[in-house]
Amino acid sequence: MNYLFPEHFDWGVATAAAQIEGAAFEDGRGPSIWDVFSRLPGKIKNGGIPDVCCDSYHNIDRDVAMLRELGVTAYRMSFSWSRILPDGTGEVNPAGIAYYRRLIDALKAAGIKINATIYHWDLPYALQIKGGFGNRDIIAWYKHYASVLFDHFGADVDFWVTFNEPIATYVGHAKGFFAPGLQDERYARQCIHHLLLCHGEVVKLFRQNLPKGKIGIVVDVWKHFPARPGNPEDEACALENNEIQGYGMFLHPLFLGGYSEVLRAYLDEHHMTPIMQQGDFDTICQKLDFYGLNFYNGLYDNAEQLAAAAKSEAAGGNYQDRPEAHLEAVRDVLHMLVEDYHLDIPIYITENGVPQDNSDDVAAMLDDQERIDYVSEVLRWVHQAIQEGIDVRGYYLWSLMDNFEWSAGFAARYGTYYTDYKTLKCTPKKSALWYRSVIENNGFWKEGAENENRCQSLRSRRRRREEF
Ligand code: NOJ
Repeated sequence: MNYLFPEHFDWGVATAAAQIEGAAFEDGRGPSIWDVFSRLPGKIKNGGIPDVCCDSYHNIDRDVAMLRELGVTAYRMSFSWSRILPDGTGEVNPAGIAYYRRLIDALKAAGIKINATIYHWDLPYALQIKGGFGNRDIIAWYKHYASVLFDHFGADVDFWVTFNEPIATYVGHAKGFFAPGLQDERYARQCIHHLLLCHGEVVKLFRQNLPKGKIGIVVDVWKHFPARPGNPEDEACALENNEIQGYGMFLHPLFLGGYSEVLRAYLDEHHMTPIMQQGDFDTICQKLDFYGLNFYNGLYDNAEQLAAAAKSEAAGGNYQDRPEAHLEAVRDVLHMLVEDYHLDIPIYITENGVPQDNSDDVAAMLDDQERIDYVSEVLRWVHQAIQEGIDVRGYYLWSLMDNFEWSAGFAARYGTYYTDYKTLKCTPKKSALWYRSVIENNGFWKEGAENENRCQSLRSRRRRREEF
């Protein structure tokens, strides 16, 4: 079947500052929490540190040449807070501004739309010392940082994103395997509340400063389904993973104006309700111009298997286990956003991709048919959701090139270009050539069932909702 996408559909690739830029201690940049965390023994697979990464700081031309070669219409990037404001607040670093100015000018010269994230996990370490997201002053710090970005680049950026995957901040404070590496769930809940307030306040600021611009947020959805629908233990697992430990902690306050009943009951029972002020939820729940969905997989929870896995779980890892693929879940998630969270704004798939385990066999790394199969399958379901009326306006592949994959270091390769970390040369993989043709044709051909019925997951979700 031919999967043709709507006219003006954006095709892009995504990256993030801390994962590609390198130049960690150059030209006045201050350390981020990831520079510090990655130096703690055992935190990053094979001891990778993000000092150099793909060295994008010194390779704007290389990066933009790859984007031109792919023919993308949009590029998703992020700003490094500690490159702009080395201490997190106070003095602006002119070299940081100059770097992003060069990058943005090069992207504009190439006719590529810019989707820029203000915060993609790399808090200045100077602010972490002051309590980071646990300190309500973070709202003022974040507003100051955003205002610097708006002043310098406001009109140049097509899509502003306040936060990428806020769950990383939760994981970094509650579970310990992301920066800053704390394991205190109560504190993590407080951090998330402040993060959501940062988002709301900056959307308000944006409306005053750039009334014609577009701003949104990126929340990843790893939707859990009960492996055995109707089994109370599996249902409870899926509910907890979605509403208490997953996307629900963000989507409810962002789009429905408060924490869900399930989450409130849990926080109350565990004495973890964050300290709040009157009006906080009004601040958080701002009208947005678009929503960014990072989708990687759907998960099926079997309570017994999860309990057994938890016992043997090793510390560390960033999506390292490869659960069975349930890529059809993307369609369900898109419907859920509209039907359950009442989203009436355009949706972009702001990230989607699959890693390869690093190997010295470069030829094998370049022959990434697995990525083509994965991406085309996800796109097939996105296409179907569009046919069903969901307003998806674009797709960004994660990632342009192999880069620093957080706690998986350089052991996981997500790029459609292969990065040689010794020479910093990037080479297109098989998927890059395939993706270029998808972009060129605004779609692709793939064998697959036509006119499929509503998928099983959608049906079981409906049934679950009715039961509540
Ligand atoms: C989530 C994050 O936004 C990105 O930084 C990460 O590298 C990818 N997904 C893959 O794990």
